[in-house]
Amino acid sequence: MAAPLRGQQPPAESGYDLWLRYVGVEDAALRRAYASRITHLVVQGASPSLRAAAGELERGIRGLLGAGVPVEAEVRGQGALVVGTPASSAIVRHLGWGRELDALGPEGFVIRSTRVADRPVTIIASSGDAGALYGAFHLLRLLQTGRPIDTLRVAERPRLARRMLDHWDNLDGTIERGYAGASIWRWAELPARIDPRLVDYARANASIGINGVVLNNVNADPRVLRADYLAKVAAIASALRPYNVRVYLSANFGAPLPPSSTPDAMKKWGGIGSLPTADPLDPRVARWWREKADEIYRLIPDFGGFLVKASSEGMPGPQDYGRSHVDGANMLAAALAPHGGVVMWRAFVYPKNADPDRVKRGYKEFVPLDGRFAANVFVQPKNGPLDFQPREPFNPLFGAMPDTPLMPELQITQEYLGRATHLVYLAPMWKEFLDADTHARGAGSTVARIVERAPNGTSGMTGIAGVANVGADSDWTGHHFAQANWYAFGRLAWDPSLPSDAVAEEWARMTWSNRPRVVRTVESMMLGSWEAAVSDMTPLGLSLTVDGQHYDPGLERREGEYWHADSLGIGYDRSSRGSDYVGQYHEPLRRLWDEPATTPPELLLWFHRVSWDFRLPNGRTVWAELVHRYDDGARYGDDLLASWRTLAGDVDARRWREVQDRLEQQRAHALRWRDASVAYFGCRSGRTRCGG
Ligand code: GCU
Repeated sequence: MAAPLRGQQPPAESGYDLWLRYVGVEDAALRRAYASRITHLVVQGASPSLRAAAGELERGIRGLLGAGVPVEAEVRGQGALVVGTPASSAIVRHLGWGRELDALGPEGFVIRSTRVADRPVTIIASSGDAGALYGAFHLLRLLQTGRPIDTLRVAERPRLARRMLDHWDNLDGTIERGYAGASIWRWAELPARIDPRLVDYARANASIGINGVVLNNVNADPRVLRADYLAKVAAIASALRPYNVRVYLSANFGAPLPPSSTPDAMKKWGGIGSLPTADPLDPRVARWWREKADEIYRLIPDFGGFLVKASSEGMPGPQDYGRSHVDGANMLAAALAPHGGVVMWRAFVYPKNADPDRVKRGYKEFVPLDGRFAANVFVQPKNGPLDFQPREPFNPLFGAMPDTPLMPELQITQEYLGRATHLVYLAPMWKEFLDADTHARGAGSTVARIVERAPNGTSGMTGIAGVANVGADSDWTGHHFAQANWYAFGRLAWDPSLPSDAVAEEWARMTWSNRPRVVRTVESMMLGSWEAAVSDMTPLGLSLTVDGQHYDPGLERREGEYWHADSLGIGYDRSSRGSDYVGQYHEPLRRLWDEPATTPPELLLWFHRVSWDFRLPNGRTVWAELVHRYDDGARYGDDLLASWRTLAGDVDARRWREVQDRLEQQRAHALRWRDASVAYFGCRSGRTRCGG
């Protein structure tokens, strides 16, 4: 696409191209500098991933520089861009970087400005084809974000081995908690026809380093494991494979049982087998899973493994047979181990009998099992102990299971954060979680450090998962700004230490424009948006304030279970004087969070029930602060609209209008939240008239 003239409105876009738009570089001097550095492309090697890298570079350079560059077999004159591995490319081999590349691993890469046969060249090199592909996308990002490329010295490697996108897609094409249209897996057409969109999906994932995809909902329909569906899964896997994206499936623990009559019943009580039991210690069950794993790997040799929601929210599991999570997970792990597959066993369980306080239950169920899982099992806790709330303290399982690989589950789809109608940039929330200090081994034991280090005997068992917000809408995510959360998740999975503002800036430049005004405005709209959403829906550590659809305020419905508000005060006492949830944390958090005065205001009502007149460090009472935050959060909607209006001429009309419509919806919805919340708590506290 040609670069727009200065002052002219860019041509309409649908958002389909995500952050891979490759529009022409506007700055003429920069474009000339790039063009002189990249005069031809040399990709030695013909593996599918190297071909994908070459294809992406050709496409990107053509768009960014306005003209394609020739693809040559050798360096010809100056300005070669060389891509390859020591195995695929004589040029790379002769550079003698083998040791360094090995240390970065097959997904790591270097990008370097150097000389070959005395000619200036740019080299993208890796010890693996996947790393070369990631290097290609990295270079394209530098070009897209207007960075200089004449003295490059980049060395990158992912900090986590499995960087997963988990789809909650059902076999009927719907998506649980999906707000961007139908599922992109068109099961009815597969395996005969593979939607070309899958390649664009894979490109997007590869561009941010995502290397694994769970295709189906954790509330798993067992039929996905049937032979006819496995052929479809294999077809999807073949489309994603060149982009280093492996396929995984959510497995229903009851799959060995016979079918049940209705689709809904299938999930909970039905299977695809004929065994009378799914007891993990029954040898027939173990054999059934072994044979199923063998069948899958015959079709998909690089199949990643199973994600399992078991004995949770009515889903079948080992506890139906009086067995433990260890029994269940290890039985599946044994079936996958000969093929190199893994089990991701979710820790989102909250059986009533475990504890009256729901947020304590996951810890109580799983901590006693530490060290007993097979070496290819991840336990997968959500970031917080409750359920993807706008803000929760970090899940105390992080730091409490030192001998078990933990794979955090984040939620990219905005189930509790205004769905795809609200602009909420989630990187700051994920950073708060990743940077949280658990104090498990003294100060500095952040969640990120725990997750990045595989426990002894489980080499390579590191990872992170995000529940996808992707659907078949033309813009993929239902809101142009929700693309940023997909993007940011991938970038943080690659490197949890990246700052959220840097990630926002990259995304803004690639998705909207490099014009400084646009970059500044978009970035500032994003950076305050999460705190604003928290203020508007769950200020001061409240949780579950929503209705059954998890969208509108539903305070009456939640009263008493997750917090309690009456004339005396508000909150939930989880201190040592209450449910003692605080006792699940290490010192000094346990001590600090045990007292209202030393609990951060952001978490006050999560840990404590305090009087309405309790004074916060800023001098305001809890009541005054609540009202203030609700108001502040709701007003962010006005700020967003005002900011966005200033960009009307800088952004293409279609996307500008679509965002504008969403922002108007968001503002109205945020005001509704504020008004409902202030009225409800005003009444409960006796501060304002009820029903007025
Ligand atoms: C939440 C969500 C459900 C989901 C569940 C889970 O409760 O609302 O849709 O199935 O989490 O993560 O298993």
